[in-house]
Amino acid sequence: MVSEKNHNVSRRQFLTYTLTGVGGFMAAGMILPMARFAIDPVLQSAGAGDMNAVADVSELTEEPQRFDFSYEQVDGWYTSEVTETAWIYQEGDNITALSPTCTHLGCTVNWNSNESYQNQFFCPCHGGRFEKNGTNVPGTPPTEPLHKYEIEVRDGTVYLGKANPQI
Ligand code: FES
Repeated sequence: MVSEKNHNVSRRQFLTYTLTGVGGFMAAGMILPMARFAIDPVLQSAGAGDMNAVADVSELTEEPQRFDFSYEQVDGWYTSEVTETAWIYQEGDNITALSPTCTHLGCTVNWNSNESYQNQFFCPCHGGRFEKNGTNVPGTPPTEPLHKYEIEVRDGTVYLGKANPQI
């Protein structure tokens, strides 16, 4: 048989339970927002894969032109502004946007910048060359074409996403 004394909660026990409950509630109220603040940036997507407005379709010609564009990149807790370049041209309904990064060792290529190689992209670092559509010229150092940007056209504006390998 259980004595009646065991059913009673002493003043000390009552205070212990009450303070533990209140303390736990307050701690949860402080820790949960801090945890969310700490984890949230990691869960957010970075800006690199988003589509960015780069040019008006009316500006494009059959000759590749250089367009610079910027976007905010979120990397964990660090946000920075990134500037990228695309060489864009239009032939009929087809719009092509190429990355200027040489696929040999990453220097920057330019269109029609070497008199000896008209109508090609030229890399000044090791003489790499690419055709207008980005195909690497055989016998020059690069072994794959320039990367192509993902393209979307909305309301007369060209949006670019990620630059992907062509092979
Ligand atoms: S980096 Fe362009 S040819 Fe080497």
